[in-house]
Amino acid sequence: MAGKLKIHGRLLCNMWLHLLCSSLLLITTEIIVSTAEDTSTFQSIADGETVVSTGGTFELGFFSAGASKSRYVAIWYKKIPVATIVWIANRDTPLTGSSGVLKVSSPGFLVLVDQKNTTVWSSNTSSSAQNPVGKLLDSGNLVVIDGNDHNDTEKYLWQSFDYPGDTLLPGMKLGRNKITGFNWHLTPWKSPQDPSPGNYTYQLGPDGYHELIVREGSVIKYRTGPWNGIQFSGMHNLDSDHTNTYGFVLDDDEEVYYGYKLLNGSVLSRLALTQDGFLHSYTWSGETQGWVLYLTAQVDICDSYGLCGCLEGFTPNFRQDRDLVDWSYGCVRKTPLSCTGDIFKKYSGMKLPNTEQSWYNSSMNLKECEMMCMNSFCSCTAFANLDVRDGGRGCLLWFSDLIDIRYSTGNGQDVYVRMAASEEGMELSCCLEQSLKGK
Ligand SMILES: *[C@@H]1O[C@H](CO)[C@@H](O)[C@H](O)[C@H]1NC(C)=O
Ligand SMILES: *[C@@H]1O[C@H](CO)[C@@H](O)[C@H](O)[C@H]1NC(C)=O
Ligand SMILES: *[C@@H]1O[C@H](CO)[C@@H](O)[C@H](O)[C@H]1NC(C)=O
Ligand SMILES: *[C@@H]1O[C@H](CO)[C@@H](O)[C@H](O)[C@H]1NC(C)=O
Ligand SMILES: *[C@@H]1O[C@H](CO)[C@@H](O)[C@H](O)[C@H]1NC(C)=O
Ligand SMILES: *[C@@H]1O[C@H](CO)[C@@H](O)[C@H](O)[C@H]1NC(C)=O
Repeated sequence: MAGKLKIHGRLLCNMWLHLLCSSLLLITTEIIVSTAEDTSTFQSIADGETVVSTGGTFELGFFSAGASKSRYVAIWYKKIPVATIVWIANRDTPLTGSSGVLKVSSPGFLVLVDQKNTTVWSSNTSSSAQNPVGKLLDSGNLVVIDGNDHNDTEKYLWQSFDYPGDTLLPGMKLGRNKITGFNWHLTPWKSPQDPSPGNYTYQLGPDGYHELIVREGSVIKYRTGPWNGIQFSGMHNLDSDHTNTYGFVLDDDEEVYYGYKLLNGSVLSRLALTQDGFLHSYTWSGETQGWVLYLTAQVDICDSYGLCGCLEGFTPNFRQDRDLVDWSYGCVRKTPLSCTGDIFKKYSGMKLPNTEQSWYNSSMNLKECEMMCMNSFCSCTAFANLDVRDGGRGCLLWFSDLIDIRYSTGNGQDVYVRMAASEEGMELSCCLEQSLKGK
């Protein structure tokens, strides 16, 4: 049949004028071009097919992890030779064979079906569209949009950026919606062969002033320290001039979240939570054709939550049932506060303590902050600026033991700790030194 048609076409061309034939060719070319522009959208993709984002940065398709035969729908970088998965749809429900199909179905779901047409994974939406289509954006965000909305309104029926796996890309959020309680967080792969969620989570702390926390199960393993307007006070930035990325915390009536953006859009950057609960930020190096680590969170053993000592003037808060030194119950003052005539001792370059039992006000200045802490009698234990930019602003107060305070390995900040007047003039020796001395 096809052969016959071909011959027929050539015969027609032979008979027609040259001009007419070339214009036919032109039309054909135009059709091809307009389809090429649309490779980022799809109605359905089968295993073996892929979708490439408009700028060619990311690709969506099926893959297997390591030696495993299980198939997953995933997004990876298109442009680089090192296979790097940034998102997986069916983390918990792998396909067993390679006959999976990812489809867009009415009124705007993504549905992954196996060879028996059984749904193994599906997305959700609260709105509907006449003509829902899937689209892979150049940010790495897989979205469902209304194909009839040609205005590019960024109204997504669903987006993969709301369901992070182990990777935070620029433009994604870590935090929560204060109204719905929706929580954006990272979970690592279980193993290199198994991308289902491991035991760790990386998410915004539930109470007090915002900081991000790595937990193993429910146990805190690491805190970033609160955001100080430039960075987390307890993070160690290897790329100190911040040439590639900048981070921020947004806190409005509806949402509070951490995110980061790229200053240079052609740089590839990602933050990942590793299988053993470590946070690593990477940028891609075209020179070495590899990922370069530019930020690590946990640098030494004292970055493990509450593991290393107390400030001078404090002593571990031993539990009676324990003989061994265990720092995890925090520190208590050697000399109790007198509540009147206490002083505030300034410690510089610190990772600020756990903010779960903290209070904050973003418009107060440091003097007002000190007054407030002093006037709250013994219950306020320390204060600091919220934001270190422009000489500092905002007020952060602690009403608890000061847990997990240490000299920062990054750019820490000033914290003013309430002490009995008799402790004035004591030397500061903190966490890291103390733990080394003990060895
Ligand atoms: C697969 O299932 C959907 C809904 O369950 C149905 O509409 C569709 O016709 C089925 N496709 C095949 C090939 O059986
Ligand atoms: C979809 O979301 C609605 C509410 O937003 C929820 O009630 C429903 O259970 C969800 N469905 C699935 C399959 O997750
Ligand atoms: C798209 O934009 C045009 C002109 O700005 C407007 O008239 C139209 O209502 C818009 N359509 C949608 C679906 O937003
Ligand atoms: C997760 O925790 C459970 C119980 O603590 C443990 O048995 C399991 O090995 C852990 N899994 C991973 C991947 O760490
Ligand atoms: C952006 O990054 C690319 C790739 O690393 C580099 O070639 C380019 O010079 C950078 N542009 C700017 C303005 O820094
Ligand atoms: C924060 O402090 C400012 C200035 O002292 C004050 O006007 C405002 O009411 C405070 N906000 C809260 C929520 O306490």
